[in-house]
Amino acid sequence: MTDLKRTHTCGQLRKSDAGSEVVLSGWVDTRRDHGGVIFIDLRDRYGKSQIVFNPERNHEAHERASNLRSEYVIAVKGKVSERPDGMTNPDMSTGEIEVYVETLELLNTSETTPFEITADTEVSTELRLKYRYLDLRRPVMQKNMMFRHKVCQVARRYFDRNEFVDIETPILTKSTPEGARDYLVPSRINRGQFYALPQSPQLFKQLLMVSGMDRYYQIVKCFRDEDLRAQRQPEFTQLDLEMSFVNEEDIMTIIEGLVVAIFKETVGRELHTPFERTSYRDAMDRYGCDAPDLRFDMTIHEITDIGEKSDFKVFQSVAKSGGQIRGINASGCATFSRKEIDEFTSFVNQFGAKGLAWFKVDDNGLTSQIAKFFSAELQAEIIERFNARPGDLLLFVADKESVVSQSLSQLRLNIAKQRGLMKDDEFHFSWVVDFPLLEYNEEAGRYDSLHHPFTSPHHEDFAILEEKPLDVRARAYDLVLNGIELGGGSIRIHRADIQKRIFSLLNIDEATAQKRFGFLLEALKYGAPPHGGIALGLDRMVTLLLKLDDIREVIAFPKTQKATCLMADAPSEVDGNQLKELGLTLLKPE
Ligand code: AMO
Ligand code: AMP
Repeated sequence: MTDLKRTHTCGQLRKSDAGSEVVLSGWVDTRRDHGGVIFIDLRDRYGKSQIVFNPERNHEAHERASNLRSEYVIAVKGKVSERPDGMTNPDMSTGEIEVYVETLELLNTSETTPFEITADTEVSTELRLKYRYLDLRRPVMQKNMMFRHKVCQVARRYFDRNEFVDIETPILTKSTPEGARDYLVPSRINRGQFYALPQSPQLFKQLLMVSGMDRYYQIVKCFRDEDLRAQRQPEFTQLDLEMSFVNEEDIMTIIEGLVVAIFKETVGRELHTPFERTSYRDAMDRYGCDAPDLRFDMTIHEITDIGEKSDFKVFQSVAKSGGQIRGINASGCATFSRKEIDEFTSFVNQFGAKGLAWFKVDDNGLTSQIAKFFSAELQAEIIERFNARPGDLLLFVADKESVVSQSLSQLRLNIAKQRGLMKDDEFHFSWVVDFPLLEYNEEAGRYDSLHHPFTSPHHEDFAILEEKPLDVRARAYDLVLNGIELGGGSIRIHRADIQKRIFSLLNIDEATAQKRFGFLLEALKYGAPPHGGIALGLDRMVTLLLKLDDIREVIAFPKTQKATCLMADAPSEVDGNQLKELGLTLLKPE
């Protein structure tokens, strides 16, 4: 054990400390030999301090310092000195001082690390994840972790101020459907039976409302076995809440207050509330998706009626067969070359579009290889619909609605990115409301919940629940920030009879409903209050606040795109005995 006990951190000393005797501990960051004098930047979570080994002051310490290498762990005792004129470093919080070392203690050595800890060199994701503890030693990652901590602290204080109670809900539980596959955990004591890890605390937080807890929150891990992308991890964290005796407005107001507090207290940004609201229908019509990026315009317009009247065969046939023709105005993009437009065409092909029709706008109207199929009147109508001006480029996809929406929403983002329309210091929040309750799952031949099966339909739509299920609107809301779904929630069904009707609409028969959600149906019989809630993706929010692209940058120990942990090597095979104990046998690989 060391004799030297740290008195200050490496980010703490200032000019006013000059003359005092201190002990610093940390990692050797960089070492410079200057004509006999050795300078080391000593690093810890709080910053860096320059420590100096002068052979004339202490020969022995200097001798030993020349053997120190990067990432060795040391403690030093010495005197704080003001740096000489011209040697101060305004980029370092401790840049006005240095510590002249009298005693050096080597606490641990280090092998050469697989990547440099503080250099800006590019390191592969695989290597970073395999040596995550070293990756987390990098100041930028430490900053991310501390920032995340701060967001949680602001949230906790806000919830506390607003009478929310932090209650933990089980991790070993029963399936909570949120649209993904469950992670299952076999039970040893109850052979042949499985727990599911929660996709969210949804059912438990509703039960807490039945318990009269009134306002619940939790910063909670959720588990979803789904295809991973940059914004998804198999385990991730929600800021989860539920409230009793509320409507949509109450939930949205509470969340706006939370987001305002977080932005103000972490990045000093004032947000204006209430946030903009868009109906699901409008979002789909104008932006082609339910999480539109509203930092720029470039809205979608429909010209099916015009296309039908034209002589362009592709448009005519799509319009006749019940498809649609919609497009966007890439304003000022008429300078794009054929090659660039061809690239956009290949881009939309990925989303199922069979082509990309285009017109350039000039003083005389529209030009393109298909302009001849459009009379002067039709051209004028198109120009008017897009409010197009000379120099604009109009781009169209004709197909069934889902293909058109997806292609154009992605194309819109792609062009905006190229044109620099998405400013990363602009935070555009919006609520998307009035989602449909259900969507038709063609593959399975049944209706699925768009949110989850506990979401309440709009009051006025109860009458058409069974006759026109796809027209029924949900009392659901999503919070969207810069085109990313940050959170979603709803007012719930609090009556057992209505919950049963929804289950039966979802083709969940009585016996299955009992088996999967019997405890909820039972609870709803005992005075369940009206209630609703929401959950925000914490990882996503922190990522956006830090202007990063990948949620793994703000998760200490994330998984790869294949849901593995490269560091701990999980998942991994288990011992045969363990399987036996659980009563499991593995199928032979196919
Ligand atoms: P939902 O499924 O919309 O709602 O999830 C809420 C928010 O959680 C985040 N999120 C994710 N973040 C990272 N990785 C993932 N795999 C992932 N999946 C979801 C998103 C999302 O908006 N129980 C309901 C909430 C409610 O109704 O109160 C729920 O879980 O930011
Ligand atoms: P073609 O007549 O197939 O050579 O197509 C003429 C133009 O229409 C090309 O720019 C195609 O990319 C475009 N196009 C073809 N099919 C579609 C479609 N379904 N939607 C939009 N544009 C299309």
